[in-house]
Amino acid sequence: MLTINKLNKSYGRFKALTDLDLHIERGDIFGFIGPNGAGKTTTMKIVCGLLSADSGEVYVDGIDALRENSKIKRKVGYVPDFFGVYDNLKVMEYMYFFASMYGYSQKDIKDTILGLLELVNLSDKQDSYVDGLSRGMKQRLCVARALIHDPDLLVLDEPASGLDPRARFEFKEILKNLGELDKTIIISSHILPELSEMCNTIGIMEKGHLIAAGNVEDIMRQSMGIAPLHIEVVKNEDVAVKVLKESPLVEKVSIRDNMIVTTFTGDDLEIANLVKRLTDLDVGICKIFREKGNLESVFLEITGNEGGAK
Ligand SMILES: Nc1ncnc2c1ncn2[C@@H]1O[C@H](COP(=O)(O)OP(=O)(O)OP(=O)(O)O)[C@@H](O)[C@H]1O
Ligand SMILES: [Mg+2]
Repeated sequence: MLTINKLNKSYGRFKALTDLDLHIERGDIFGFIGPNGAGKTTTMKIVCGLLSADSGEVYVDGIDALRENSKIKRKVGYVPDFFGVYDNLKVMEYMYFFASMYGYSQKDIKDTILGLLELVNLSDKQDSYVDGLSRGMKQRLCVARALIHDPDLLVLDEPASGLDPRARFEFKEILKNLGELDKTIIISSHILPELSEMCNTIGIMEKGHLIAAGNVEDIMRQSMGIAPLHIEVVKNEDVAVKVLKESPLVEKVSIRDNMIVTTFTGDDLEIANLVKRLTDLDVGICKIFREKGNLESVFLEITGNEGGAK
């Protein structure tokens, strides 16, 4: 659905994107993570045909985003990270205004707009002034607006930032509905645990490069080595501690609440081998598990603690 090859973009002498490669399949909900200034907004604007690039290739469903500007704008919907000011404009007027930019007449588009307002849960706000809406409502209105021309790819720049937990929950429901409509979606965010719930694939970006990408489970699995391993032992605990301390896969061993807690960087097979080795030495293991890793720790690990909440 989206293929980016060796994309480069500089602002003056500053290089915002360096040989960026990215691939997103149709129907994916792709989470774009990275610290401030990583290049997420820059990439998204280029994909939407809103910003030129210096070199590289960007194809959305075979359409060249760098050259076929009017076609790309039909193909994608963009929700910017900043909602403009719209004095004295009511919700329906706002929607008609954007519809007119795509050449739709009010008569033809009315039902579509009503459907979209229903989708984003704003049906009862049709006659409200846009500037009087709450932040979460504005965010949803922006999504409705970006869907007017029925784009295949929807690009959302930090849609969940500044929303309270309830608004974020509602937003997630909307994303789910969009997924059912077979849209491909890109979302950028700093709210990492949230992204793991919303998205099926994620890409982690830093300083204009993609430093990790894949489905959420794979990225989480990669992070598993980071999460501590807990072992509860009922017999020969000292033997277990000694074995662990001697293992090249272990950096630290401590005892917490009668549990051995250790940094064990091995995979599942290596854990199985460890259990066998300990059992052979008559260590009585009654429980062993990994602490559940989360995206936040993956992100910090991969970006070397430079990232963080905005
Ligand atoms: N119009 C511009 N002129 C000059 N530099 C820019 C411009 N837009 C972005 N940059 C720079 O390019 C880099 C990437 O910016 P970008 O907005 O793409 O990052 P981002 O990942 O979206 O960050 P954030 O999380 O803060 O939104 C930053 O260092 C930024 O300062
Ligand atoms: Mg940004």
